[in-house]
Amino acid sequence: SANELWGGRFAKGPAEIMERINASIDFDRRLYAQDIMGSMAHSSMLMACNIISEADGQKIQEGLQTILREIEAGNFKTDPALEDIHMHVEARLRELIGDAAGRLHTARSRNDQVATDFRLWVRDTMDHLDRELADLVDALLDQAEAEADTVMPGFTHLQAAQPVTFGHHMLAYVEMFARDRGRLADARSRLNESPLGSAALAGTSFPIDREMTSKALGFDRPTANSLDGVSDRDFALEFLSFASICSMHLSRLAEEIVIWSSAQFRFVECSDSFSTGSSIMPQKKNPDAAELIRGKAGRSAGAFTSLLMMMKGLPMTYGKDMQEDKEPVFDAADNLQLCLAAMSGMIRDIKVNGEVMTAASGAGFTTATDLADWLVQKLDMPFRQAHHVTGALVKLAEENTCGLEDLSLSQMQSVEGGITEEIYKVLGVQNSVASRVSYGGTAPTKVREQIARWREKLGQE
Ligand code: ARG
Repeated sequence: SANELWGGRFAKGPAEIMERINASIDFDRRLYAQDIMGSMAHSSMLMACNIISEADGQKIQEGLQTILREIEAGNFKTDPALEDIHMHVEARLRELIGDAAGRLHTARSRNDQVATDFRLWVRDTMDHLDRELADLVDALLDQAEAEADTVMPGFTHLQAAQPVTFGHHMLAYVEMFARDRGRLADARSRLNESPLGSAALAGTSFPIDREMTSKALGFDRPTANSLDGVSDRDFALEFLSFASICSMHLSRLAEEIVIWSSAQFRFVECSDSFSTGSSIMPQKKNPDAAELIRGKAGRSAGAFTSLLMMMKGLPMTYGKDMQEDKEPVFDAADNLQLCLAAMSGMIRDIKVNGEVMTAASGAGFTTATDLADWLVQKLDMPFRQAHHVTGALVKLAEENTCGLEDLSLSQMQSVEGGITEEIYKVLGVQNSVASRVSYGGTAPTKVREQIARWREKLGQE
């Protein structure tokens, strides 16, 4: 039989396969709270503007509250013939209150309805994720503070480069995740306009008050163009772009945890709570949580790409393609939430093997730059020449299979006569990191300054 909500011009109902391809209720039921909130605001406005009677408005609102309770109690039956959450709520409302239900959709279309609901959902999710991110930043700051003095090898090309401190390394991620929060806040401010009242696409002839619904739903203002209001999904794309970038940051940290926890590195040990064992190899403790965070990052990027591709060919205004906007957003949001919580837990629990890190931080001649800098500062050598002399000393140490600090003074002087005993001071990794006092540098004093700056900034939030 024809659909009771729009079946007026239809002689017969849809094919079974049509019903299946058309239905979105299995995933968009997640919008139920936003849908009901939007309908509450809309019906209040219709009453205030005398577009529907108080009596009908009251019935509608009581019915909506009943439906909210039914859904929350888990006893709400769905039917693919009713397509989506919006039609389900309206159909149930009709069962509950009769004909007055039909007045709710006055001056509204599912096009502005779904655009509103989805914005509300994404906004809630942004707020939730922001709290998760703040928690992760907090965990990283705690580790940075605990390990402000712990020397570790810093890498470029994953080759030992210069000694750094673990605290400094943690702070690098604090900077990244703080920028992610900035991107989120920025996207949220652009998202926060109400499309409700755009109607199908052209606006409406009813004397509605869009300021009123916008305010009731916590938006900053109504969208200024009805075509744009129903047809763009850039707010969702900005969310997914944030999610992709944030997932990429999480994935890099996860990858480092995977490397650091290997038997070859042993820089850190993941707690049992965030590891799994092997069914065959009894010695194994695998960093599965980190690997899954790394793996899921691909899905966020995929979600972003799929929505971008879905949107790029659509003429104004709404097209049913746009029903496909929700699943990638839900998927990316769910995964990001899991990943942020798992990463916070992992970082809080992680055991840092400071001695192993420090012992490893001299390997690979990581203080060679300090040696070159010493030649420049004490012997007034041009840096390029100092680079060359240091290279020769590294070669000599390599030939003797020893570290730079193990070369005798006479061996050093055979390469550069001006070198004195004083050189040994800069060859130690502790001295190396302590000397990096430039703003943003790795010296423990600087790391502590940055931790204090972040704590103060976050305390003011
Ligand atoms: N389920 C639809 C969606 O998610 C709701 C909007 C339907 N609008 C329409 N004109 N068919 O996009």
